[in-house]
Amino acid sequence: MDVVTGAFSYTGRAIAEELLRRGRPVRTLSRRDAPGDPLAERIERAALQFRDVRGLREALAGADTLYNTYWVRFAHGETTFDRAVENTRVLLRCAREAGVRRIVHVSVTSPSLDSPLPYFRGKAQVEEDVRGSALSYAIVRPTLVFGPRDILVNNIAWALRRAPVFPVAGAGRYRVQPVAVEDVATICIDAGASEEDVVRDAAGPETLSYEELVRLVVAATGSRARIVHLPPRVVLALGRITGVLRRDVLLTPEELAGLQAELLVSREAPIGAASFRSWVAANGESLGRGYVSELARNFRPYDPL
Ligand SMILES: NC(=O)c1ccc[n+]([C@@H]2O[C@H](COP(=O)([O-])OP(=O)(O)OC[C@H]3O[C@@H](n4cnc5c(N)ncnc54)[C@H](OP(=O)(O)O)[C@@H]3O)[C@@H](O)[C@H]2O)c1
Repeated sequence: MDVVTGAFSYTGRAIAEELLRRGRPVRTLSRRDAPGDPLAERIERAALQFRDVRGLREALAGADTLYNTYWVRFAHGETTFDRAVENTRVLLRCAREAGVRRIVHVSVTSPSLDSPLPYFRGKAQVEEDVRGSALSYAIVRPTLVFGPRDILVNNIAWALRRAPVFPVAGAGRYRVQPVAVEDVATICIDAGASEEDVVRDAAGPETLSYEELVRLVVAATGSRARIVHLPPRVVLALGRITGVLRRDVLLTPEELAGLQAELLVSREAPIGAASFRSWVAANGESLGRGYVSELARNFRPYDPL
């Protein structure tokens, strides 16, 4: 049996589905009850929580591999990156005490202890903790993940369907290298099967400028919006206004800085196979039909962990 955090959410769902396809029983740690989710009938569930250490250890007991996707997209209210680092330490300790053989930890490309961006700094800190955990480990670092239930590309499509103009910060030439969520799952599970301690990027085959990515979404959705280049602070201000209207956080200054610094690009030969171009063309009809709120999905319904 393997344990996957977040099997009713995004990357964890793809990992759980692929494990099931390979005949592996799965237990998930999640805050969600997921009634009506077809996956809920096929896997066990325990609470994703870090305060009841005994409960967490029990939930991990008997697991061969722990696939950890737990992280937070941004700090909000009592949810902070420092807390997410601390929580992951608790998870690592419980995994070791429960006798878990191996951890596959989902990180991000370009983590750095020196990063001014708390997301990437926190990721680097957690990677250190994974290395020091005495567990056999694989660290998998995705770039920008695309697939069903994605938020970023969906909300770009949502804006492109509604607004006459779409703002791109600066020249829009900064690059991204999207990777399919199914490819991330395959890379994680292949890494789980090995014994070696490894660190590898999970990146897709295409490197695009951010503007190219937006233009692919324009073409796929049939949007007539005009792309306009604006200073980053203006784009962020527009994002904040939309955020107030949608009761969400669309894009943080740190996320935009990460995009502009090309942190979601790999320096390794890509091992993800699926093309973003093809995916977006095939899914243009459904993309952006509704807005997906990060706060509604991941923050508002739950007490901070
Ligand atoms: N999405 C991307 O483009 C991308 C790119 C690079 C790296 N990554 C990394 O890949 C991993 C998975 O990302 P994902 O986008 O697939 O995330 P996700 O499925 O939305 O969430 C992953 C896990 O974190 C928990 N979680 C999410 N937000 C939380 C919050 N605000 N408070 C407490 N718990 C929270 C979820 O809990 P529930 O189980 O209760 O839902 C789930 O267990 C993360 O480590 C992320 O940093 C993602």
